[in-house]
Amino acid sequence: MTISQSLRKAIVKAAYLSEWICFRLLGRLIRNRRLKPIILEGSVSSLPTQDWHPSQYAANARFVSDLGIPALGLLSPQPGEYILDLGCGDGVLTRKLLELGCDVVGIDSSPDMVAATRSLGLNAQVMDARTMSFRKEFDAVFSNAVLHWIQQPDQVIAGVWNALKDGGRFVGEFGGYGNVQAIVNALESALSSRNIEAINPWYFPRPEEYRARLEAKSLIVASLALIPRPTPLPRGMRAWLETFALPYLSVLPIDERPRFISEVTDALEPTLCDVNGDWYADYVRLRFSAVKPCTSTSG
Ligand code: BEZ
Repeated sequence: MTISQSLRKAIVKAAYLSEWICFRLLGRLIRNRRLKPIILEGSVSSLPTQDWHPSQYAANARFVSDLGIPALGLLSPQPGEYILDLGCGDGVLTRKLLELGCDVVGIDSSPDMVAATRSLGLNAQVMDARTMSFRKEFDAVFSNAVLHWIQQPDQVIAGVWNALKDGGRFVGEFGGYGNVQAIVNALESALSSRNIEAINPWYFPRPEEYRARLEAKSLIVASLALIPRPTPLPRGMRAWLETFALPYLSVLPIDERPRFISEVTDALEPTLCDVNGDWYADYVRLRFSAVKPCTSTSG
C-alpha cells in the first residue's frame, strides 16, 4: 500500500469515527432530553408529530376514510344538519356528508390537507382542534381517525361541547387502548437498539378513561366500545410506516431511515403478514357516540 493510499484510508476512518461519535452524542442528548428530536408539524394537534402530504395519503391511506363508514353510520347524519368534520384530512368523508345532504365544515391543522378538501369544493378551515372557537353552532361534530394524534383530549372535548347546539351529537372513532401495539413495540425496539428512547406520539385511551372524560364535560355517552379491527394494508407495512410513523423516523438521519424501516418491517413480518404476503395493521378502534343535553346551562 502506498503512503497516499494509507493516508486516504486513515482520513476515511477518521470521518466514519467522527460521524459515529456525533451520532452517539446526538442520541445521548436526545435521551437526556437536552435536545428535542426534530419532529414535523401534525394534523389537527399542533404538537410536532407528523407531516401530511395529500398525494401520499391518497396513495397509502385511502383505507382510513373507507373504514370510517361505520362511524359515519353511527352518526346517522340527516339532510339539512350542520356538521363539523373534526380533522377532515383530504375531505373524502366530508364530501360524503355533503352528498348525504348535510351542510358541512371541515377543520384540520394541516394547510395542505385543508387545501385538498377545498379542492373538492368543500368548506374547510385550518384550525387546531384544541382551540376551536365555535359556539353552539353544530347539530353534530364528527371525527374519524384523528383524536389519537392529540395528547390533550380534554381541550378537544371542551371545544366540541362549545361547538355543539343543545342536543347535538359528538360521534367518532379513533385508535383505542392497544392500537397498533405490535407496530409500536417494533418501532421502539428498533430505536432502543440504537440507544434512542422513543416518544410515543399517540393517545390510545382505555374505554373507561375516554368515557370519564366525556362525562366530566357533561356529555351523555350513548355508546362507546373498543373494537379490535385488524386492517388490511393494501400497500404493505413499509408504506404504512412511511406515511404514519414520521414521529419515530424523524429522530434518525434521513439516510438511516430506509434501513430502519426494513428492520421494523422484517420484525413485524411473522405477526402482521399472512402466508400470501398480505399485510395487516393491528388496529383497535374506540368508537363512541355522545350527546350534549338539551338542558345545558354551561355554554
Ligand atoms: C390509526 O388510525 O389508528 C393510526 C394511524 C396512524 C398512526 C397511528 C394510529
